[in-house]
Amino acid sequence: MKASEVRQKYLEFFEKKGHKRIPSASLVPQNDPTVLFTTAGMHPLVPYLLGEVHPMGKRLVDVQKCLRTDDIDEVGDFNHHTFFEMLGNWSLGDYFKEDAIKWSYEFLTQELKLDSERIYITCFVGDEDAPKDIESAEIWKSLGIPEERIFFFDKKDNWWGPAGITGPCGPDTEMHYDVTGKSHGSDCKPGCSCGRFSEVWNDVFMQYNKMSDGSFEKLPEPNVDTGMGLERILAVVNGLDDDYKTDLWVGAIDKISELSGKQYSDNTKTFRIIADHTRASVFVISDGIISSNKQQGYVLRRLIRRTILQMSRLGIEKYEDSINSLADVYIQLMSDQYESLLKNKKLIHEILSDEVSKFVRTLDKGMKEAEKIEKIDAKKAFDLYQTYGFPLELTIELFADRGQTINVNQFKEEFKKHQDLSRTTSAGSFKGGLADHSLETTRLHTVTHLLHKSLREVLGGHVQ
Ligand code: SER
Repeated sequence: MKASEVRQKYLEFFEKKGHKRIPSASLVPQNDPTVLFTTAGMHPLVPYLLGEVHPMGKRLVDVQKCLRTDDIDEVGDFNHHTFFEMLGNWSLGDYFKEDAIKWSYEFLTQELKLDSERIYITCFVGDEDAPKDIESAEIWKSLGIPEERIFFFDKKDNWWGPAGITGPCGPDTEMHYDVTGKSHGSDCKPGCSCGRFSEVWNDVFMQYNKMSDGSFEKLPEPNVDTGMGLERILAVVNGLDDDYKTDLWVGAIDKISELSGKQYSDNTKTFRIIADHTRASVFVISDGIISSNKQQGYVLRRLIRRTILQMSRLGIEKYEDSINSLADVYIQLMSDQYESLLKNKKLIHEILSDEVSKFVRTLDKGMKEAEKIEKIDAKKAFDLYQTYGFPLELTIELFADRGQTINVNQFKEEFKKHQDLSRTTSAGSFKGGLADHSLETTRLHTVTHLLHKSLREVLGGHVQ
């Protein structure tokens, strides 16, 4: 089954159950300064989960672009990605556990034809904030899932949200699929690191609003937020043990093979990082981000620089042409679903090329410098960042190969020391700039903001 077919089936299935299809929101949250990117399908819906009325009604369904950098270090394995698509259906104070669980089960077993015998369930075990979710477990049992395949876990595994610091959250029930059918012992259960299970879908029962003091207040209406990663379910549906073997990735993997002359099977981790980070960069740029040393721009910079480092390891030399031709594979593959990719093709090439040329200027020198370092420490890592633009995780990765580690907190301290220093030095330079509160300066300042806003409206969010 192809990705487009899974998306289609999902949207149509929930439309038949009375849901309205909504478009994917931007990867860059519009009204939430607490997070850099949209990390889940529920994110753009937070105001509605808190009680605001949604213009499309109480039942919604979509495919949302998401980006998560929390587990960027896991990218390189068979099923972690920075950018991914999340299939989601919502009840805004409408149906609850019974229908949500029943429809998840129906979709997996009837539409995707997954083997019900291989579906395992996890539910919330309960704590001082919320009770044990026996109700969900009973619903699963009524659908035919035996008790031996239902597990109870704590907040770490079976509680979702809030997406930022405060907001809607609640206990969840997850569906895991036994991919290999090979148990390694009696303690092998969902969440096991042996690779037997793939977590495919999460039904969250949002009953609480987490407040800034850490307490949980009951929401006026309970909601349902479900999320299923397209990449993972696609692999499971096709009986594959590797997301990168599905049609979402094969074109890119073939392209990397062509560019490097190497085989995927001999270099899985490197191939996957290049494929994942390039795809994420394409989508981030298309949603209006330019690489920089700040916030979303710095995430993009790190994604591109890490891609280049991995390309160099694979022996790919023409970085700029290579990353652009790889970007084209995704633009072509995914423009049907996300038409802005095609519209922004030129911009995507420009930003990728620009960042590559900035990094390449210092990459070789930085690599030579890194080779000279016998024992890495936070200060030396900071020097590599400062002088050669090596993001920390890139240096961590380089030295991990030599069995050396870096103290991240010490690195942050070095960073802060440097920031304090440059703030002190530059304080004087604002004289005649923003520190000058003359009427003329204020007027020019305001007009710059107005012009900037208009340019963004006419030309797009990428204008900086
Ligand atoms: N918010 C939940 C998740 O991201 C379900 O959509 O897993």
